[in-house]
Amino acid sequence: MPAEVRRSRTQVGIVGAGPAGLLLSHLLARRGIDSVVAELRSREYCEARQRAGVLEQGSVDLLRAAGLGGRLDAEGLEHGGIYLQFGGERQHLDFRELTGRTVTVYAQTEVVKDLIAARLAAAAAIEFEVTGTEVAGLETDRPVLSFTAADGGRHEVTCDVIAGCDGFHGICRAAIPAARQTVSEREYPYAWLGILARVPPSTDELIYAHHRRGFALHSLRSPAVSRLYLQVPPGTDVAAWPDDRVWAELQTRLGRPGWDLKEGPVLEKGVTPMRSYVSEPMRHGRLFLAGDAAHIVPPTGAKGLNLALADVAVLAQALGALLLEGRAGLADAYSDTCLTRVWRSTHFSWWMTTMLHPTPGADAMESRLQLAQLRYVTTSRSAATSLAENYTGYPPLLPGAG
Ligand code: FAD
Ligand code: PHB
Repeated sequence: MPAEVRRSRTQVGIVGAGPAGLLLSHLLARRGIDSVVAELRSREYCEARQRAGVLEQGSVDLLRAAGLGGRLDAEGLEHGGIYLQFGGERQHLDFRELTGRTVTVYAQTEVVKDLIAARLAAAAAIEFEVTGTEVAGLETDRPVLSFTAADGGRHEVTCDVIAGCDGFHGICRAAIPAARQTVSEREYPYAWLGILARVPPSTDELIYAHHRRGFALHSLRSPAVSRLYLQVPPGTDVAAWPDDRVWAELQTRLGRPGWDLKEGPVLEKGVTPMRSYVSEPMRHGRLFLAGDAAHIVPPTGAKGLNLALADVAVLAQALGALLLEGRAGLADAYSDTCLTRVWRSTHFSWWMTTMLHPTPGADAMESRLQLAQLRYVTTSRSAATSLAENYTGYPPLLPGAG
């Protein structure tokens, strides 16, 4: 006999408790709109998943305005620029001086921990470890979110709107008929091998290094923990990269006379594929996609998390107007509003990626062009300002979005 289905009602059904789903639930609650969040993974898994590290100034302002600035202000590391390393030189780009804006190093794990703590403190409905998530009735004004909870109970939640915040491999984008979607996609012929290491950073700001053996990035998480990346072939098995091989390659690609890369115990290691992907429009009927569910950028521009936060800032306002005042204009404009920023970040991420990564098997022409571009952005004030404006967030998020 089929198990009993537990039926309930909410205003917004949210699929996914990543940064997008959690912040949306939080911003909606601040407007008095209730939501149910269904998440595939456990709370511990969501809080430990190593991903982004850099927040644009607008993202920091948004989190602060939403009452989430406590630990971010105490522990986030404000950075006024980055280093670009190429052809044996290391050049500094001073974002603060070029644009008056900065970025903040504060890991996605910490953003997610802060959001989960805030939601649970407000007794929000977040169901972790669900299975069998389904969305239905998207073209009606009462769409239904269904899932099996961790205790085995089947839930059917009738909603006004469903928000697909379930990342690139989620089910929401797939629920949109293919004929109603336009997909733009690029795969890159390389991946990133990332490590988290218990060692103080060897740099005060991030180093993006172009090297003939491949790109390398020195990022950080805290005064005691560093995050480093190496360009590797797609499909690389981490087992082929024992810690000493990773450190030796990082030393080669990042090393400079008179500068030491400090080594320490590796806490985590993983390989990330590189892809650009945009699915448009970001809405189908009463389903709104946000974050990685709708678009992916290669990590070189540090944009993915920031785009996810920007999408839900727009969505929270649009749903506020729709559900509280019956005004549909902002919801109707949601997809176009977000896609302007999404395509700007997609271009910037592609541009940073192709400037800094040697394509396997490419001839000398490619590397001469990359070096010419790197020299240009580090010597021309206009070119440097363009990079700085994009890196710190363009267009700046509207004040009051939280
Ligand atoms: P996700 O974080 O993917 O969250 C989606 C959630 O949905 C997940 O918790 C998932 O478990 C859940 N889910 C999936 N399917 C289902 C289902 N069927 N039912 C219920 N729940 C489901 N971005 C930056 O801005 N700056 C950076 O420096 C940066 N660096 C990065 C480095 C790496 C190595 C990687 C991998 C990414 C990086 N990014 C960066 C990108 C950033 O991490 C993502 O863009 C961000 O996680 C998107 O958030 P999201 O909430 O949209 O999706
Ligand atoms: C990170 O710290 O994980 C990070 C920083 C900058 C990037 C990508 C990832 O461009």
